[in-house]
Amino acid sequence: MTLWAGRFDAAMDQTLWDLSESYSFDHVLYAHDIAGSMAHVRGLETAGLLSAEECATLLETLETIKGEFETGTFERAPSDEDIHMAIERRATELAGAVGAKIHTSRSRNDQVATTLRLFTRDAVTRIAQASLALVETLVAVGAANADAYLPGYTHLQRAQPVLLSHHLQAHAWSLLRDVDRLLDARRRLNVSPLGAGALAGTSLPILPAVTAELMGFDEAFANSMDAVSDRDLVAETLFDIALLGVHLSRMGEELVLWTTSEFNFAVLGDDFTTGSSMLPQKKNSDVAELARGKSGRLVGNLTGLLVTLKGLPLAYNRDLQEDKEPLFDSVRQVLLVLAAMEGAYRSMTFHREVAALAADDQLLVAIDIAEGLVQAGMPFRQAHEVAGGLVGRAVREDRPLADVVAEEPSLAGYAELFDRGAALANRRSPGSSGPSASEAQSERLRARISTMRSRL
Ligand code: ARG
Repeated sequence: MTLWAGRFDAAMDQTLWDLSESYSFDHVLYAHDIAGSMAHVRGLETAGLLSAEECATLLETLETIKGEFETGTFERAPSDEDIHMAIERRATELAGAVGAKIHTSRSRNDQVATTLRLFTRDAVTRIAQASLALVETLVAVGAANADAYLPGYTHLQRAQPVLLSHHLQAHAWSLLRDVDRLLDARRRLNVSPLGAGALAGTSLPILPAVTAELMGFDEAFANSMDAVSDRDLVAETLFDIALLGVHLSRMGEELVLWTTSEFNFAVLGDDFTTGSSMLPQKKNSDVAELARGKSGRLVGNLTGLLVTLKGLPLAYNRDLQEDKEPLFDSVRQVLLVLAAMEGAYRSMTFHREVAALAADDQLLVAIDIAEGLVQAGMPFRQAHEVAGGLVGRAVREDRPLADVVAEEPSLAGYAELFDRGAALANRRSPGSSGPSASEAQSERLRARISTMRSRL
């Protein structure tokens, strides 16, 4: 029998039940739903709607139910449509008449909104923590290969040499923006919807601010209709995860490239690679491919939810139940990717010699020739033309650029630009890819990491 049987003459058809039940996926919310119910019960006591004794009984009952979930002994009854009804049903079974008071002044509409915010607040914190762990690993891998360098690319064509640490820190900065966004979203979602009721509040003397504080929310809702229909927090979280997933995907693509025989800039540890069922020689970077592949569903979860929300009239509509599976999926998947990518980078061996050889490609010195001419007073456009002419000759005649430059009497001092690592050392403007700028960047990065840590 449903909780609303009083109004109905016929039982729910099985097809409607199958369509609408959500216990099969929302049972993972049990701990957050119980936390919300505990605050609610204490709020009812403050409002004089429960005696101290009734409140204590209900708190104890909720604690017992939580234990049942934790030990795997909680049994779903056939009538349990979702996690909220399952817990209320069990509370009434265990506490008798007092259990029947637990839903006083509350609707599943403000209950599910509250539970969802508590869940998302924790999830966002966990994702931010895992992202910071990856940032720290990127910094550590860079530091462990302190003077390693590689070609930096534009259009996936060799452009200029960059320190490996600079390259990895580029990813770190984007992940730090993800952390910043997640923590911003957490601040915005930290508003309690409890006490909004079905949509219009209640005639009973409850104080939403009291339960808001008990649950660690910054404040209670101002508008009951907004409180039960707002799912911005889910959309924002899904966006933040999707963008984080896009960053992880780009990093994955790069690891795939680096670990090909063609690039051979790096190899991942045996514990972070997979073999082939047929080809004995294979060592595949599946971890990086999955980081790339998972981003598709993370973006899909975001767009799916936005389409669900579009066009919904105020206030609660059952469509909103569709917010959960994408949220749970994105949270779970991004945590899997973050942990595995963190391990993959830790397991990585960077082939400094191979990468340095590629970065010491003489053509990458062309810009240094042009900038040398600029320092001698030549307008840049003209200097570019001169350097381009030298490159053209070297390519046409299939000779090293250094040899072509050596034949130019006006470029007598330019030979040392071709020394190993010289083009890298030449990058010295603030924030650039060379060794002299790297300490300042690392310091800024460390400061940003510690700011984010303190906000966790
Ligand atoms: N399981 C539902 C959800 O996720 C709970 C709310 C149901 N409310 C209602 N008025 N039928 O949204």
